[in-house]
Amino acid sequence: MKLSEIDYSNNFNDLDIDLKNFINTDNHVVFLDSNLSSILNLDENLNIFEIDINESTKGLETIQKLWAIMFDQSLDRNSKVIGIGGGVLSDLVGFATSTFKRGAKLCLIPSTLLGMVDAAHGGKNGFNNDYGKNQIGTFFIPEKILICSEFLDSLSENELNNGIIESIKAGLLGDRTILDLIYVDNFMKNIDEIIKKSVKVKNIILQNDIEESNERMFLNLGHTIGHLIEKDSDFSVSHGQAVAIGILKGLEIAETKYHLDNNVKHQFEDFLNKKSLKTDYKFSGDINYLKEIISNDKKVSNDVIKFVLIQDIEKPILIDLHINDLLEVLING
Ligand SMILES: NC(=O)c1ccc[n+]([C@@H]2O[C@H](COP(=O)([O-])OP(=O)(O)OC[C@H]3O[C@@H](n4cnc5c(N)ncnc54)[C@H](O)[C@@H]3O)[C@@H](O)[C@H]2O)c1
Repeated sequence: MKLSEIDYSNNFNDLDIDLKNFINTDNHVVFLDSNLSSILNLDENLNIFEIDINESTKGLETIQKLWAIMFDQSLDRNSKVIGIGGGVLSDLVGFATSTFKRGAKLCLIPSTLLGMVDAAHGGKNGFNNDYGKNQIGTFFIPEKILICSEFLDSLSENELNNGIIESIKAGLLGDRTILDLIYVDNFMKNIDEIIKKSVKVKNIILQNDIEESNERMFLNLGHTIGHLIEKDSDFSVSHGQAVAIGILKGLEIAETKYHLDNNVKHQFEDFLNKKSLKTDYKFSGDINYLKEIISNDKKVSNDVIKFVLIQDIEKPILIDLHINDLLEVLING
């Protein structure tokens, strides 16, 4: 499957040029996260619709609003749909575009670090319903992704942490030089390089397995435990913080199972301490409750979960782990 074309810039003027080149003279709509309207001054001639989004409105109602705008603007399959925002907006716009007349042309412009290094890439999209997060979705590769690091100037520390943890994940999975760029006094001075290298790791994995039958599952490093922490804490623990603890637990398991050099964990732990991120989490739910949550994970069948570990940096492995064994590690250490 063809992956997205990606262009990089580090200021909004260059982004504007890239965006107009993509649109050309074609019929288009731009869906903009309304929180960005004061940050980004888009040309008034563009066909812009501000969308109020957050995790609680990441549902069918918002999708229906997006579809209605696309019909009202007489879009067809050759029209261009542009989504500017974080992972919530790109998931919603990605889904709405993939299902509108079976797919128009999509350009994503991620405005969060998490979006730039992860959520905008790979074509996964989705929205939440009463049965859980991202339970409805499609695989739909954007034609274009425009990454502009000027967006990061207005991003909160918490949102930057959510993204940088995904870049550390990319470093552990496929490129140790990413870790060298992050484990410094101020990783923001290296951010353009960190983003490019993280995207490259994700794209190499995607090229081999876009529909997540095997290798793409590597990208779940830290996420099985991370999602459990997010749910157990009723989402009071942020995604990045939860995944960070998930990665750390995974490194501990890998030390026991594969004699992973304990420096890998220590360096990561030092980074978390420097960023005042937590390195442990005490579950409040009992074992049966946690078992029920984990059983709903898309990667579980017959009480066995496909769990990602690294044997060494750049050497990920997928193992079958019984959920009782995983819960034992999480609850009793
Ligand atoms: N499809 C995928 O492969 C994939 C991968 C990872 C995460 N996700 C999804 O991404 C979502 C999380 O994405 P996110 O972390 O980007 O969160 P988000 O989209 O909710 O953005 C976080 C907050 O930052 C604001 N914001 C966005 N850009 C900003 C900027 N430049 N300056 C200031 N504020 C800005 C947003 O309005 C929002 O309030 C989740 O719903 C998750 O399911 C999808």
